[in-house]
Amino acid sequence: MLTSVEIRKQFLDFFASKGHTIVPSAPIVVKNDPTLLFTNAGMNQFKDYFLGDKKPPYLRAADTQKCLRVSGKHNDLEEVGVDTYHHTMFEMLGNWSFGDYFKKEAIAWSWELLTEVYKLPKDRLYVSVFEGDPKENLPPSTIALAEWKKLVEDDHIIFGNKKDNFWEMGDTGPCGPCSEIHVDCRSDEERASIPGRELVNKDHPQVIEIWNNVFMQYNRKKDGSLEPLPSTHVDTGMGFERLVRVLQGKQSNYDTDVFTGTIAATEEITGKKYGQSDSKPDIAFRVIADHIRAIGFTIADGQLPSNTGAGYVIRRILRRAVRYYYSYLDYKQPLLHQLMPVLAKQFATVFPELQSQVDFVTKVVKEEEDAFLRTLDKGLKKIDDIIRTTETAGSEKVGGSAAFELYDTYGFPIDLTRLIARENNLEVDEAGFEKEMTKQKDRSRAATAIDTEDWVVLNETAHMQFVGHDTLEIESKVLKYRKVKAKGKEAFQLVLSVTPFYAESGGQVGDTGVLMFEGEPIRVVDTKKENDLIIHFVEKLPVNISGIVTAKVDRDKRNKTEAHHSATHLLHAALRKVLGPHVAQKGSLVNDEHLRFDFSHFAKVSDDELGRIERIVNEKIRENIPVKIEEMPKDEAIAMGAMALFGEKYSDLVRVVMMDKDYSIELCGGTHVDATGEIGFLKIKHESAVAAGVRRLEAVAGIAAETWVGAQLEQLQAVKELLKNPKELQKSIENTLADNAALKKQLESLENRALVGIRNELLKKDEIINGLSFIGDIVEVSNPDALKKLCFDLRNNLNDYVAVLGANIGGKPFVAIGISDAVVVARSLDAGKLIKEHVAPLIKGGGGGQKNLATAGGQEVGGLTKVITRIKGLLNN
Ligand code: ALA
Repeated sequence: MLTSVEIRKQFLDFFASKGHTIVPSAPIVVKNDPTLLFTNAGMNQFKDYFLGDKKPPYLRAADTQKCLRVSGKHNDLEEVGVDTYHHTMFEMLGNWSFGDYFKKEAIAWSWELLTEVYKLPKDRLYVSVFEGDPKENLPPSTIALAEWKKLVEDDHIIFGNKKDNFWEMGDTGPCGPCSEIHVDCRSDEERASIPGRELVNKDHPQVIEIWNNVFMQYNRKKDGSLEPLPSTHVDTGMGFERLVRVLQGKQSNYDTDVFTGTIAATEEITGKKYGQSDSKPDIAFRVIADHIRAIGFTIADGQLPSNTGAGYVIRRILRRAVRYYYSYLDYKQPLLHQLMPVLAKQFATVFPELQSQVDFVTKVVKEEEDAFLRTLDKGLKKIDDIIRTTETAGSEKVGGSAAFELYDTYGFPIDLTRLIARENNLEVDEAGFEKEMTKQKDRSRAATAIDTEDWVVLNETAHMQFVGHDTLEIESKVLKYRKVKAKGKEAFQLVLSVTPFYAESGGQVGDTGVLMFEGEPIRVVDTKKENDLIIHFVEKLPVNISGIVTAKVDRDKRNKTEAHHSATHLLHAALRKVLGPHVAQKGSLVNDEHLRFDFSHFAKVSDDELGRIERIVNEKIRENIPVKIEEMPKDEAIAMGAMALFGEKYSDLVRVVMMDKDYSIELCGGTHVDATGEIGFLKIKHESAVAAGVRRLEAVAGIAAETWVGAQLEQLQAVKELLKNPKELQKSIENTLADNAALKKQLESLENRALVGIRNELLKKDEIINGLSFIGDIVEVSNPDALKKLCFDLRNNLNDYVAVLGANIGGKPFVAIGISDAVVVARSLDAGKLIKEHVAPLIKGGGGGQKNLATAGGQEVGGLTKVITRIKGLLNN
């Protein structure tokens, strides 16, 4: 039996033999593409080649791509674990032609690989062909049909509609007709009774799609129309886990060696067995074996779990897994993190990014599990209650606000609530839940919602070029532009044929500047990337957009930003020197005002360590090391010891930034100073924690550092002056603080003595109302706490009492109400309620508290006497 490792290798070797360049998987987390959170198909990283926005470095490529299909157009999450062949993260084996070969070769090679290399029996394979779609004006795939007919019996060819045989990346983007290849794994007996062709695309667990060959011909535009692509391409995707299952002769993907390692480890940890008759624990085993991969590889690619966007997707997957082991494997402690080393080892040669950060990923996962386990038990009890109430009320839906409470208070992602509801034959009022979510998010949503129109293309043929490493000003032309609407305001985005504007990436902010159109200046407020397109953000269009434009970057801002960027490299190297080689960059922000650097490290960085780090960086600045930047093959750069970032997509030829090759070498596309002396100096401002195992440094360099240090010194000077310029400032402050503490103590004891006096006076004013001791008075105290103390004190001296004490403290009214516990019960009185309903409005303020003691503060001192009369009146009734 072939192992999964051999099967993967045979695929890549086969396409290498057909002239394909074998490329690495792109990171699973997508940056620079607003239409996508995660890589959901092998072709994502090649989108620009298909659209003609970028020239491919090779015409044929093949790889295995880490994909995640849990959000957006392709979402399989609900099926995962319940069946045996859907996954959150999976490997997609793919081969591509960029304007090179087309249907004939793609079809012939897929057949050759499956039947001659993998030796799958031909009579178990079915292929499908697009039947056309008159509504979209799409013809049937006659060429694909003719090619298949050369290889496959007619009754193994199936015609499919747009849903099954026209593949689209998302709502917009490259697309085209496709041919799927399905395999029938049933027994001969079953195959004899029902022909496989009747079960294709019918969700039969043994008749499954393994490979999709897409023939890219169109671009789906925002308005829904299809536009032919400049050239035609091939994009194929084969589900690796399914292929392994078929070739290893298993009934389930989870019985292959892709998953058995983590399942065995789960058995060992929990003491439970996989493959027993009970379905729930089996689903739990599969959910864990699947989800651990999505969680591990995404965190390794730089995405930490969080409350929004891609981070929230990871959190949801993780919580779904926790709930399964907690409920169905009866395991109540963190489990997933224990599996991480097993997983990392298994994939060490294919996806080494996990193995090299396994301690970090394990720590992040454990922390997430710990946090969710703390509320899970309460949440499960809560959802039990909710389900019981729903059933008692005869409703079939868990209410939207209940689902929202589970989300908001107990951290239950909606798909977890949906899952548990479904286990109880209930649904969730999704619309109601969304309504509650919208209410919560309304403000931020309005602030971030962006509506983007289609590009208006002015120049089809030219490619875009970035020259901003060497120049800050150049003549150019607009290639295309589009309108965007954000926060109700209209703005525009431009792409230029050649541009000096650096687009935000690698932590460095986008350039600002001006585009000069025949004497008309148009301000560029930001520059960002979308895939590899450099997009200039402008607030209006010029009168003559097709004319020549001079693009000019803000020099001052760029220079200051560069100082911070180069300082970040020096800092990164110093951190590794002082803290150790486990330090890896986890995030970075570099602009003209400061730098922020996040990195993996498990403890607080001490003041002593910070001092050493800062000293090393400043030494390197004073050495005025020339910054050398070279392009070289990636492997060569890595061999030189260059630091690459996990989760970053690098091409074969990389840009290497060196500041003394024995000190700092990084792969980096950003812009830098010419020599480190230009940085001036560096000052670390702050060190903090951002997430489990991730620390953050904030620092300033150059002029920003000078300004910051200057401000600190000014503050210090002001403090000195306040203390009358003492010889020893620290000593003087310590003395003042000590004096202050002593005085406070003295004051407290005096006040306490005064309070005894006030209390004795109050006791004399005791009135009996309806059998209760009532004391209502305005007293003279210096702080609101004294009112509370008085109430306590009265309680010790009176049996059944109600006290209403008011005070004017610094021109503001304060009130405390004390009631003895017995009166609270016997008379159903509630001091908190009295404060809220009667006192607060009278003094124009607010407050609250317990049934036996509550306080309020307000604005209207004149209300104090009214308060006493009002409460007294209530007791009289
Ligand atoms: N892009 C195609 C798919 O994902 C191959 O199915």
